[in-house]
Amino acid sequence: MIKIAPSILAADFARLGEQVTQAQDAGADLIHIDIMDGRFVPNITMGPAIVEALATLATIPLDVHLMIVEPDRFVQRFADSGADFITVHLEACPHLHRVLDQISDAGCRPGVALNPHTTASALREVIGMVRIVNVMTVNPGFGGQRFISGMSGKISELRAMVESSGSEIEIEVDGGINAETISIAEDAGATIAIAGTCVFRHEKGIAAGIEELRRAAALARKNDRR
Ligand code: DX5
Ligand code: ZN
Repeated sequence: MIKIAPSILAADFARLGEQVTQAQDAGADLIHIDIMDGRFVPNITMGPAIVEALATLATIPLDVHLMIVEPDRFVQRFADSGADFITVHLEACPHLHRVLDQISDAGCRPGVALNPHTTASALREVIGMVRIVNVMTVNPGFGGQRFISGMSGKISELRAMVESSGSEIEIEVDGGINAETISIAEDAGATIAIAGTCVFRHEKGIAAGIEELRRAAALARKNDRR
């Protein structure tokens, strides 16, 4: 069953703690935190202080997605703040191998995110070092964008690479996940669906947003078995 990781980018920041608690109580599997620096992506969001604050109330892993240049300068800060997973962008790391070691040495589980134009094969030489691969299904920087459906081939390719590596690696899909796209992602081999808008901005509330995603994924699985 695909795991659900609500992305707080779409949360009400004036009530952040309360909303994260609601997402946890509704059965979220991880909390996804989007860190943007206004350089790697054209938007600025939050920093280690927010991770630290959420770590005081989190009962599920904090999945920190760094959309920043030179992430090596901040890995230790985010680790000290309570991140469980730290994901860096392959496109932001000329020395990716070294950064992944740095994340592990800091006591976190390392992840690599791929922009839509980056091929799955770019990960081949480091696949054994990662615990998460984040397949961006929108161009990073903003919530509320449309899922790029052409990404499902890349997800399947990564699934095959992960299986042949024999390691336990999660495949995340990030961007434009809703009741329709979650099953495309799961069918292709994703194990974690990151969802901002359709969880935190659901008209019936956060729990209803998570429930709708779970129901859509379960229904698609049932139909597949027919
Ligand atoms: C985009 C972020 C995503 C974003 C997803 O750069 O990495 O995590 O919050 O938001 P939705 O679900 O609204 O597409
Ligand atoms: Zn993200």
